[in-house]
This record gives sequence, C-alpha cells and structure tokens, in this order.
Amino acid sequence: MTVREDVALSELTTLRVGGSARYVLTLSSPEEIPAALAFTRERGLPFVVLGQGSNVLAPDSGYPGVVLLMRIPGLLWSEAENHTRASVGAGVPWDEFVRAAASRALWGVENLAGIPGTVGAAPVQNIGAYGAEVHTIIESVTVYDAQNGEARTIPRDECGFSYRDSRFKHEPHLIITSVAFTLAPDGSPRTDYADLIAARAAGKDLSTPGAIGETVREVRAAKFPDLRAYGTAGSFFKNPILTQEAYDALSLRYRTEIAPYGSIPLYPVPGRVKIPLAFILDKLLGMRGFRLGPTFLFGNQPLVLVADAHASAADVDALARNIEQKVYDATGISIEREVRDLTFHEYRDENAKHES
Ligand code: EPU
Repeated sequence: MTVREDVALSELTTLRVGGSARYVLTLSSPEEIPAALAFTRERGLPFVVLGQGSNVLAPDSGYPGVVLLMRIPGLLWSEAENHTRASVGAGVPWDEFVRAAASRALWGVENLAGIPGTVGAAPVQNIGAYGAEVHTIIESVTVYDAQNGEARTIPRDECGFSYRDSRFKHEPHLIITSVAFTLAPDGSPRTDYADLIAARAAGKDLSTPGAIGETVREVRAAKFPDLRAYGTAGSFFKNPILTQEAYDALSLRYRTEIAPYGSIPLYPVPGRVKIPLAFILDKLLGMRGFRLGPTFLFGNQPLVLVADAHASAADVDALARNIEQKVYDATGISIEREVRDLTFHEYRDENAKHES
C-alpha cells in the first residue's frame, strides 16, 4: 500500500476537474484493505474507492477524506463444463480484460469493448453498450465488507442489477476486490444495434469476438472526444425510462412539431420504454455541440459532456443543470445523472474516532 497526501483529483478522474484529496492509498492486493481501513479509522476520515475515475465528478473543494485507489491485479482462467470462468482483479483495466477474452476467442464481453474504467467498477453501474449489459455474464462479485471486516462472494442474483444500477452503488461499505465472469467458447455476434448494423453494411468484419471488439472500439472513438485533450465521463445522464403513454405523447409531439413521418427511437424494458436522451437533446432541443463557458456537449454524441482543460467542477455542474432544466421544460422529464458526485460513494465508519 502506498500513501500519498494532497493529490489532485483532476489527475485521478477522466473529467479532469476537482480539488485535492487529503490522502490517496493505492491498493494492490485485498490483504492491504484492513490496514487501509485502520488508517482511515485512526484519522476519523471517510473513504471512497476509485478505479480510473471515469464516471465521477470530483468537487472543486477537494475531498477531505481518503481515496482508496483500486489497483488489485490478476486474471485467472478456469474451465467449467460449458464455459470458461475468468476471475479478474478489481484494478484490471476493463478493456485489458476484453482483449484477453478476445485473444482466447471467448464470447460474452466483445460488445463492451473500449469502455473506460476498471473491472471492479463494471458491476457498480452495470456497464452496458451495443445491446449488451455486463450483469448477464457476471457469475459473482467478491467484496471486502468494511462494516464487519469480512470478505465474501456475492452471486449475481444478489447484486441488485438493473439499468446502470446495482446494490454496490448504494452500499459503499462493500469494496469490490474481484469479479468472476462466465464466458463461452461458442457464441454468435450480437449485431442488432444500429451502429453495428451500419458497420456491417460498411463491410466491417463482425465474425469473431476480437473483430467485434475492434469495430466497437472504432465506433466508440467517433462518439467520444480524445481523453488526452478533454475531460469527459462518457454518457453524463442515464437514458430516461418512460411509460408507454408518456412515450406516445412525446412521439406525437415530435411528429406534429418536428418530423411528420418521424418517430423517437425506443428500447423496450419490462413494462416501459427507454428512449435515447441523445435524440431528445439533438432533434427536440437542437443542443448538439451546445457550449456553456468551458464545457460543451460533444457534436457527435450530445449525451457526452466535455470539459475544456481549464474547466472546473462548478462549470460541469452548471452545464448539467442547464440541460436538466431544458429537458424538463421541454418534455416534463426529470433526467437522472449517470455520473455521480465523488462523495456519493463515500463510506464513513460511525465508530471511528473523530479527528481532533
Ligand atoms: N442520436 C441522435 N443524435 C446524435 C446522437 C445520437 O439523435 O447526435 C440518437 C441516435 O439516433 C440513436 C440514439 O440517439 O438512435 C442513441 O445513441 P447511441 O447509440 O450513441 O447511444 P446512447 O443511447 O446515447 C448508450 C449508453 C452508452 C453506450 C451506447 C452504445 C447510456 C446512458 N449510454 O448511449 O454508454 O456506449 O448506448 O450502446 O445508456 C456510458 O454509459 O457512459 C456510455 C457511453
């Protein structure tokens, strides 16, 4: 475990904003966790776990607690009857795992290629892209419970997975140390998603997990700004889930006011419909590329909020509020952020002594 003091959160998060964290402890094995928690308790401080910081907004005032930087490595393969199990350390970069699966010609994660972040963060918000969601291939999640000091393995059906959500988002005392995935030696491409249909029509090879992964990375590259030049956290908002009636009313308005023969795309979810907020921002509000000070909505994908190098967390928040208000005024929909404030994931041990 390495200990650093006063570390800029802009260096630890992909939005590249925020003040300093009081302490940053880098964890490179699960065995280091008890000492890290003793460190935070002795100082009466709260902690948050960070992977690559690709889905968090760090405050300009910094974080007066301990950041546990998850860097636990490891990629273990084992054979079961009809599948291959991969047990992956929480600190492994997500796409490194996707490439390793592809090099073994294993199916299951290929549509999730190129997503920034760590393996340990994947179950937290149940990452999804191109018609796939990670919960379907998770077998179990191993955690260290900061409340009672026990390590335990939680099977998939006890993880509370739903669209961009899981119990881990709401129980910050559960520190994910590794994730077990079920991958298949035989599989078939899932290419019913619009961007992949277009890629196939353009002659892209979509026949193997490796080829699909490469195509998905290319498609994604066009939808996200260069992370070396700009701050971003991918989709800043969740796509709204509406009742069928609310969808019909919105669709009717779209046809009446904007496109007589058009329709708003939808993805069915049980009992409801999910609509792409990018479409609303683009076609209803004309907000592609909308700029507010040093922040803007990405031209090719308005759900992606981008921060110039000198932007602050307050600037990012101002743009997000502006959009929340405009969407509400135009549609009556209260959109929800997918990117969370750093302190949303905080855990504070109530029995810890307070700093004098
Ligand atoms: N669209 C427009 N105008 C635009 C861009 C898109 O009208 O300028 C419309 C398109 O017509 C398309 C729809 O919006 O029908 C959806 O766009 P896209 O396929 O790019 O995906 P999304 O729904 O905006 C979701 C995930 C992404 C994931 C993509 C690809 C959420 C919040 N976002 O975005 O996840 O990569 O699908 O599957 O669910 C993330 O979570 O950070 C993330 C990037």
